[in-house]
Amino acid sequence: MELGEALRTTGAVRDYTADAVSDESLYRILDTARFAPNGGNRQAWRVVVVKDPGVRRAIRDCYLPGWYGYLAQVSAGLVPWAVVTDEQAMAAALGRAASVAEAAAAGPGGFAEHLDAVPAMLVVLADLRNLATLDRDIGHYTMVGGASIYPFAWSILLAAREEGLAGVLTTMVVREEAAVKTLLHVPDELVVAGVLALGHPVRQPTRLKRRPVEAFTTLDALDGAPFAQP
Ligand SMILES: Cc1cc2nc3c(=O)[nH]c(=O)nc-3n(C[C@H](O)[C@H](O)[C@H](O)COP(=O)(O)O)c2cc1C
Repeated sequence: MELGEALRTTGAVRDYTADAVSDESLYRILDTARFAPNGGNRQAWRVVVVKDPGVRRAIRDCYLPGWYGYLAQVSAGLVPWAVVTDEQAMAAALGRAASVAEAAAAGPGGFAEHLDAVPAMLVVLADLRNLATLDRDIGHYTMVGGASIYPFAWSILLAAREEGLAGVLTTMVVREEAAVKTLLHVPDELVVAGVLALGHPVRQPTRLKRRPVEAFTTLDALDGAPFAQP
């Protein structure tokens, strides 16, 4: 597949056919993704391929509280768990998460409620001993550590395309990280970066919604002129 097309069309896919994802495919995907860039080439990622139905259900149960909290915040007009946010509004929204969960329980459920049934489930972990985190002590939320892990996750999603697969990186389980770590026997030095779902897509997106370059790129300073198409 042509690189530019892959970069422009690898959207989040949450609907999969009933076809299984073979271990051969999964192995090839990981074998390509391992070339992802990462700070100091420490390759701090670890992956747990979750096949056990009971563990999968438990992972789904760790996903759901975050999901309902997310929905409650979105319906309150918030960016869920934004680092800079209206804390009171966020707390009020989270207080409504239980009723969002109740409403969801009455319906057929979507991706979140059926997460345990995705064709392939990969939990991505990060070993904090191997994360060069340049902003760990500069007085704000850290960004750099994750940058050594998420390109790897993205490479998994891109490599999946080559196999005719598609998927999505999810992070809701991080709200229940302690439970996930217990489930997967993860020691203190590692953290949960996310859960990747993969499968054969019911449909592959072709047109993703993203802002144009001019909307996020400026010249010489953040308040400089937009970097417009020449
Ligand atoms: C760091 C990160 C966390 C995400 N977490 C979730 C998640 O927990 N659940 C989910 O369904 N999608 C999750 N997504 C997928 C995003 O919702 C998706 O990338 C975004 O809405 C753009 O979708 P599109 O590529 O289909 O346009 C996550 C994506 C990223 C990069």
